[in-house]
Amino acid sequence: MEVIAKTSEVKNVLTEHRSKGESIGFVPTMGALHRGHISLVEKAVSDNNIVVVSIFVNPTQFNDTTDLKNYPRTPDRDMKILEKSGVHYIYMPSEQEIYPDPDTRVFDFGKLDKVMEGEHRPGHFNGVAQVVSKLFDIVEPHRAYFGQKDFQQLAIIRQLVKLLNLKIEIVPCPIVRENDGLAMSSRNLLLEPSIRQSAPLIFKTLSDARNKGVELSVKELISWVVTTINKDNNLTVEYFSLADSITLQPILNWNDSESIIGCIAVRAGKIRLIDNAYFK
Ligand code: PAF
Repeated sequence: MEVIAKTSEVKNVLTEHRSKGESIGFVPTMGALHRGHISLVEKAVSDNNIVVVSIFVNPTQFNDTTDLKNYPRTPDRDMKILEKSGVHYIYMPSEQEIYPDPDTRVFDFGKLDKVMEGEHRPGHFNGVAQVVSKLFDIVEPHRAYFGQKDFQQLAIIRQLVKLLNLKIEIVPCPIVRENDGLAMSSRNLLLEPSIRQSAPLIFKTLSDARNKGVELSVKELISWVVTTINKDNNLTVEYFSLADSITLQPILNWNDSESIIGCIAVRAGKIRLIDNAYFK
């Protein structure tokens, strides 16, 4: 495994692999790796000849400077984990390397980024699109791997690939959970112990809500989820949306969509957690 900081160097080595007809799988990350990331890496290793993982905490996707400052950074541990996972290259650029000049591009995702995370974290997806488009341009992967925990991000990336007319296969990977159901996230490291104990209620409530199914109206179910989670003093629901899984636009009735996703964001102390589950 090689760790490369320079863009020109990573481009050169990958051009050589491509010229030999080898397939390149790419896992973009912001580091602080957990089993969710490892599942993406394992899938990439099994699908491709060469696997590249990037580690870069992208400032343009943080709409909150404290969140950026506190974002966990564990590069030495990350490298050890990746070494054991069969990764060939880690691309770990500096901010100057990715943004030698400010990136002023504004992407038009239509209604896709006007809801849920896009609504509550203004500018977040534009920042994600800026960095991912740059990384795609540098790595030129055949396939790129993204976790379904960031459900809206996945939809945005698919749209980005269409907008930029890229020939990259986007491979979605299932959410990996702790034993108690909490979706794996780098931010889980930042949860205070008492709040960490409350956090599994998020997925438990989503699961119970799924079982309630169409017993309740969409409006009633949304209200039930929000009330159930908010009863825990450590948790406050920022939003819970039942939406069409492709357009991400909220549904009003169960028969408004063939495929319904429930997406939630919860404030757990100072940390913001997201999760989702299919309802239909
Ligand atoms: O999902 C993430 O970790 C980030 O949003 C990504 C895709 C690496 C872009 O910075």
